[in-house]
Amino acid sequence: MYQKELNAIKKSGRFRQRKVWDKELIDFASNDYLGLANNKKQLKKALNLLDEYTIHSPKASMLVNGYHEIHERFEQSLAKLNGFEEGIVVGSGFLANVSLIEALVRKKDMLFIDEEYHASGMMTTGLLADRVVKFRHNDPNDLEEKLKKFNGDGRKIIAVEGVYSMSGALCDRAIFDLVDKYEALMIVDEAHSSGVIGENLLGIFEYYNIEPHERHIKMGTLGKAYGSYGAYILASSHIISFLINRGKPIIYSTAPSVIDTALALVNIETVAKNSSKYYEKIQKRYEIIEKHLGIRSQSLILPIEMPTNSTTIEMQKHLIKKGFLVGAIRQPTVEKPILRVIPRVGSSKKSLEKLFQNLKKT
Ligand SMILES: Cc1ncc(COP(=O)(O)O)c(C=O)c1O
Repeated sequence: MYQKELNAIKKSGRFRQRKVWDKELIDFASNDYLGLANNKKQLKKALNLLDEYTIHSPKASMLVNGYHEIHERFEQSLAKLNGFEEGIVVGSGFLANVSLIEALVRKKDMLFIDEEYHASGMMTTGLLADRVVKFRHNDPNDLEEKLKKFNGDGRKIIAVEGVYSMSGALCDRAIFDLVDKYEALMIVDEAHSSGVIGENLLGIFEYYNIEPHERHIKMGTLGKAYGSYGAYILASSHIISFLINRGKPIIYSTAPSVIDTALALVNIETVAKNSSKYYEKIQKRYEIIEKHLGIRSQSLILPIEMPTNSTTIEMQKHLIKKGFLVGAIRQPTVEKPILRVIPRVGSSKKSLEKLFQNLKKT
């Protein structure tokens, strides 16, 4: 039924397949930045926590009776840790972005979104008709020009990522200043910055020493540095309350998995307690990158540009033969194909050195 389309995808070198990878491969591909995904001690802690309660499944929407004590504990602890008034746990980062963008951009409002924002946000802009303006990637000048042109009386909402998922670039500090200058609302997707940057690994707000205020909204995922699955939104209480009343994926979806939330809670507590240890480990990875590639990395996403989609796949295969797994990201996900290397704490420094030696040889 879709053979013609599939053939076209194959012809352009964009055909994707899911696969269970060999666990012996050294993982430089996943977003498990801190190596928590195989930490059985943490899993046991989460299971013990869950055991304290009679109910372990969400059963219904949060707004019926799916809201669990563990959800509540998680939200309160994360909001406090990050200096936000309130938080809400959401099923996934994709759903969190859909909720935010669909619900917050009302009639007369305008969304200003970075052109490289995650697909979940971009897809949702399709629901906004003419209430969206894309600005050039991480470009405060272009954003300001567009903000100036907007003379409606609705809200201005700016959407950016803390660390961009493909380039590893940090959101420009000047964009935070524009938020204040134009009294805009700001959505920051911290999927790749929470648990990775800032002295206590709290993300971009901490990295820039910015105290969250009522126009800041932080969204983050639990399936990356925090070694679980799901997502959260942190904001002022009245925005959280509005999302509970208007965010469709929050209202019309079963509450997030309780076991995943418990795992995220114990992992976030562990990361907070050991943040200086993790911070040091991350800095060591940056030193290795600098030594081998001469790049001063600011995040745990290292993109290596490749000439074509097919050479990207060939290079990935070559590295697999040597025992390493890296991401092969092709168009249309990125403009130019890249090897996406994640110098994660979960894989040893020695193996990272070996990976770079292999890259240099080819
Ligand atoms: C920047 C960014 N936002 C949102 C998401 C979606 O999060 P989730 O995987 O929890 O749906 C991802 C990737 O997964 C991402 O990279």
